[in-house]
Amino acid sequence: MVYLTSAMVLPHKSLKGFAFIAVLLVLTIFFVYCMKWYTNTVKNTNKDLNLFEGNITSTNYDTNFKKRLPNAIIIGSNKSGTRALLVFLKIHPDVRACPVEVHFFNQEENYARGLDWYRQRMPKSSAKQLTIEKTPAYFITSNVPERVFNMSKDVKLLVIVRDPTERAISEYTQLALKHNSSLPPFEEYVVKNGNVINDKRSVVKSGVYIRHLRHWMKFFPLSQIHFVSGEQLVQNPAPELNLVENFLNLRPMITEKNFYINKTKGFPCFIGKIGLHGKRKTGCLKGNKGRKHVQVRSDVRTLLQDYYRPFNNELYSVVKRNFQWP
Ligand code: A3P
Repeated sequence: MVYLTSAMVLPHKSLKGFAFIAVLLVLTIFFVYCMKWYTNTVKNTNKDLNLFEGNITSTNYDTNFKKRLPNAIIIGSNKSGTRALLVFLKIHPDVRACPVEVHFFNQEENYARGLDWYRQRMPKSSAKQLTIEKTPAYFITSNVPERVFNMSKDVKLLVIVRDPTERAISEYTQLALKHNSSLPPFEEYVVKNGNVINDKRSVVKSGVYIRHLRHWMKFFPLSQIHFVSGEQLVQNPAPELNLVENFLNLRPMITEKNFYINKTKGFPCFIGKIGLHGKRKTGCLKGNKGRKHVQVRSDVRTLLQDYYRPFNNELYSVVKRNFQWP
C-alpha cells in the first residue's frame, strides 16, 4: 500500500524508492515505540500489584494507586506474633501493608501531625485493596480507641494474643537484652513480697487482655474486633489466616502451601510473593522473633498462670473462643 501510494504521487523512480523506505522507517519507529509503551505499562502495573506465583494471582488491575488510610489495624498485643501476622497477611494479593510501626495514635507528637501525615506513611493501594498497619502499642494505650474511632468507625481491628505468661517472659527477654542484663532476674521483676505478682509492671499488665479490650469495646462492637491465636499462628498458620481473611472480607487465598517450617528455629516461614525481579519470594522472620527465652523458675511461672487465669477465662467468654492457655 505504501509502495502504491508513493508510485502514484511521485513521478521519478528513485524518489519513489526513497519515499517507500522513509515511510517504512517511520512505521517501524512507531511500532517499536508502541511496544515499549505497552510493556512498560503492564510491567509497572504488575510491580504495584505484587503478583504472586502459583494459584495466587490478583485480578485487580485498577491502576488508581494512591496512599489511603488503613481499613484494618493490627492493634496488639506486643510479643504475641504481630509481625508474623502482618508478614503472612502480605501473602494475600489484595493486602497492602505498612512495613513499619507508625505509632500514630499512641504518640502525641505523631498524632499532632494529623491524618494526612498518617496517610502518607501508608503504601500505595488500589481502591479494591486493603491497607493495613500494625502498631502493637495501640492495644494497651487507653486513649487510642477513641482516636481510632475518630478516624474511622468502620475500621477493622485485629488483636493477636498468646498465653500471657509466655508473652510476659518474651517481653522481659527483650527488655533484658536491651538493658544489657542490668534488670533484676525475671522472678524478682514480676513478683513482690515473695509470692505476689507485681501487677504494676507493664510486662504483667499487657497480658491482662480483657482489661484492654474493655476500653476498645466502648467504641467498637465485638464484630469489628478479631482475635488471632498466637499459638495457632505458629503451629498451623494457614487455617488461622483463613479466619482473618474471612473477617477482613478477603478472597480465601492463603493455603498451607504458602508455608514451610524453618527446622533450626521451629517457626513457620512464608512462600508467596513474586519479588520485583520476578523471583519467588520466601522468607522467615528476623532473628529477634522466635528467640530463646530466659529460664524461669517453675513456681513463678505457676504464680503468673494463676494470676492470669481469671482474666483469661473472662476473655474466652467475651470473645467466644477458648485459647486453652494453662
Ligand atoms: P518470641 O521471640 O518470644 O518467641 P511480635 O512480632 O508481636 O513482637 O511477636 C514476637 C513473637 O512472634 C515471637 O516471640 C514468636 O514467638 C512469635 N512468632 C509467631 N510466628 C512466628 C514466626 N513465624 N517466626 C518467628 N516468630 C514468630
